[in-house]
Parts: sequence; structure tokens; C-alpha cells
Amino acid sequence: MVQELIHPQSTGASREDLEAFWMPFTANRQFKANPRLFVSAKDMYFTTEDGRQVLDGTAGLWCVNAGHCRPKIVEAIQQQVATLDYAPAFQMGHPGAFQLADRLAKLAPGDLNHVFFVNSGSEAVDTALKIAIAYHRVRGEGTRQRLIGRERGYHGVGFGGISVGGIGTNRKFFGSLLTGVDHLPHTHSLEHNAFSRQQPAWGAHLADELERLVALHDPSNIAAVIVEPVAGSTGVLIPPQGYLERLRSICDKHGILLIFDEVITGFGRLGTGFAADYFGVMPDMITVAKGISNGTVPMGAVFVRDGIYDAFMHGTENAIELFHGYTYSGHPVACAAAMATLDVYEEEGLFHYARELSGYWEEAMHSFKGAPHVIDVRSLGLVAGIELESLPGKPTARAFECFLRCYQQGLLIRTTGDTIALSPPLIIQKHQIDQLVELLTQILHELP
Ligand SMILES: Cc1ncc(COP(=O)(O)O)c(C=O)c1O
Repeated sequence: MVQELIHPQSTGASREDLEAFWMPFTANRQFKANPRLFVSAKDMYFTTEDGRQVLDGTAGLWCVNAGHCRPKIVEAIQQQVATLDYAPAFQMGHPGAFQLADRLAKLAPGDLNHVFFVNSGSEAVDTALKIAIAYHRVRGEGTRQRLIGRERGYHGVGFGGISVGGIGTNRKFFGSLLTGVDHLPHTHSLEHNAFSRQQPAWGAHLADELERLVALHDPSNIAAVIVEPVAGSTGVLIPPQGYLERLRSICDKHGILLIFDEVITGFGRLGTGFAADYFGVMPDMITVAKGISNGTVPMGAVFVRDGIYDAFMHGTENAIELFHGYTYSGHPVACAAAMATLDVYEEEGLFHYARELSGYWEEAMHSFKGAPHVIDVRSLGLVAGIELESLPGKPTARAFECFLRCYQQGLLIRTTGDTIALSPPLIIQKHQIDQLVELLTQILHELP
């Protein structure tokens, strides 16, 4: 039975049946036949159930940017839950949510001065899409309902997110999705850009496809364009030079809102607060989650520019302006976790540290050029994608085998398709980068 494969001696726990938990985005039967369980974590390392240390090459799932179990964050959560465990989110408040929103607004670029709290990246995306459509409506342009995403985009798993998203497997089982959605082409090209350093030179013209969609649908029907500034989950795709700037200017020309989904890039991943800062391109909304609370307590948010928020603040004062929100929007424990997380980022200068380290990281990542199976390396800030040639007739199998071997030998990587995605906590040190490269290189040499 699958139960035999758990190692109860290491945790002292009784043998548990693994069947009840339907695991997300996981091959359940394969996993349960040979489970991989973490029981604790500290700074850069997880500890497995059988007592092994595993270097975290992925900040959990792109979220533990300050490293694991940081005392300041742990204490803030403990204190908050013992003081005010919950306060109703509708028609009531608590000081922590206002303080956090104010602090986040100061961190965000430009006039992204208003913050709508949610509990995940998926909720942030669906919230932003709804705000975009409602914004045009309250301004008297209610025909602007169409949403434009991008092929290979990942915007979470809500119906809005999978509709604007562009990953076929995430869409194909779920019916007709939202109507009125179109997609830009993705920007990945091995032919033109393989092994580019930082932003690839080829591909800015792909933003002009937006003009084609505008001509097709007419601007009066388009509410918003949503893209990840650096696409993460689809395999780390870095925007070509000039691409985001071009999207911005086409959106401006036609009165279309531009939403950056920064669930992965927010909070220091590129060595700046947000990718919008890194690229110097100002969106109308930014969606975040993950690093906002260092992965400790679920939280997400949508940053909104003044003009959008102001457009809703009309009419009678006792009328609810936006019929949207979650029971746990601005949850006190999540707010405390996020406040303490921002303290750690700030006190330790982690965004700056990540920026300083990014050159070393880039060299290290590009050392995979020439390693067996590697057909591309893409790296920016402290994120990298290492694309492997697929095993003939078995897409994803080679990268997954690499993931399993890394885990067995003490390194957590993430794979998507046949790309290895690396995004370590921002506290990673040079010797740990070296350790990661050494182990991964060795495993690439051993892979079928
Ligand atoms: C860009 C982007 N948007 C949205 C999401 C969804 O976030 P969540 O899993 O918290 O719903 C993710 C998750 O990886 C993401 O990378």
C-alpha cells in the first residue's frame, strides 16, 4: 500500500492514508506511490520527512522571498492571531489593513495608490479584470468589456484567469470560459533568442499584434490587456527589449487599461520592488500575492491607479462603490504577516541585495550553456529558466526526471514543460548558488 512508503519513524507520526487529499497540479497517483514530504524549513533549506536538508531553489512556489521561518514574521503572526484573530471585512475594518495598504501604496510605483486585498494570485487577477470592466462602465464606456491576455500566460486558476491565460492544459477541461477574450502571441523564440543575456533583442514587434486585435474588435469594445512582465509559470519568458513599452503606448493610444500580473515578479524578484520599476513601464493595475506575505499566510492584492479608484468614488456616499470582496480581504493575520515581511525586506535591504547578486546569478545560470540537453538559458534578476530538449515523444519527462533526482540529492527545483525554473529566496548566498549549479550540472550529465 502507499502507506508503506511514508517514513513514520522520522516524524513520530502515525501512518496516514494519503488518499483523502486531492493534491493540486500534481500527479496524485504517482506522488502517493512515492511521496515527497517536507516537515520543516529554515532560511534557505527545507527538511524532509526522513531528515534530509533540501536547498530551496524555488522560494517554495516563488513566494518565500525572505527565506523560511523568519523570526520577525513568525512572531508578528503569533501576536496578531492572539490579539485580533478576525474582523469582518465588509462595512467594518481594523487598523492593520489600512496601515498595510498605505505602506504598500508608498512602495508601489507612480500613482498606484490604492490597494484591494484578496487571498491569492488567482483572486487578484479576477479582481483586476472585474475592476477594469466596471471602471469603463462607471465612466460611461460600458461597451469596453473585452479582455486581452497572451498565449502561454499564467494568471491563476479562476475562470477569469484561465480565460485570459494561455496555457492549453489549464483551459481545455473547463468549457467555454469567459466570452470576449482574445490573446496576443507569446514572445518565446529559440530561433531568434536562445541564450540571450537579460532582455532578448528580438520580438518587440510582437506587441504590435495588439494593434491587429484593436482593429478587429474596435477599441470601444476593449477593457484591458493583462500580461506577466516576466512570464514565470510557463517557463520564464523575459520580455524582448522595447516590448512592454510598446504595449503601454498602444494601450494609451486606444484608452485600454494595462494590467501587469506581478504575482511572481513583485517584491524583489528582479531586484526592484516590482517589475514595473525594473522595466520603467507604468501599468494601470498590478496584481500581487506570494511574496507579499513571504508565503506564510495567504494574501494577494491589486494595486490601482488614482484615476481608476477616483472614477468609482462618485454618487451617493452611502452607496457601495464596488460589489466585490472576500470574507478574508485584508485578514488581520495576513496583514500582520505582510507588515513584518515588508520590515524584513527593508531592514535587510533584500531587493538591493538581489539586484547586486543578479550578475553572479546570471553568470552561474549561463554556465549551463553547453551542459547536456540544455537548449536555452534565460535569466533576469534572481530568476532563471533552463530549457531542456524534450525526450523524443515524451515532453516534460526529462525535466521531471531532473526534478526527482535533484530532490533526492538535496535541491528543490521547479519544472514546467521541459524548462527548469529557478527562483531562490532573495537571501541566497554565492556559495549556495555554486552548490546549486554544481549539483544541477552533475544531474544534467546523468540524465537520460
Ligand atoms: C503570474 C501569476 N499570476 C497568478 C498566479 C496565481 O496565484 P495563486 O496560485 O496564488 O492563485 C500565479 C501563480 O503562480 C502567477 O505566477
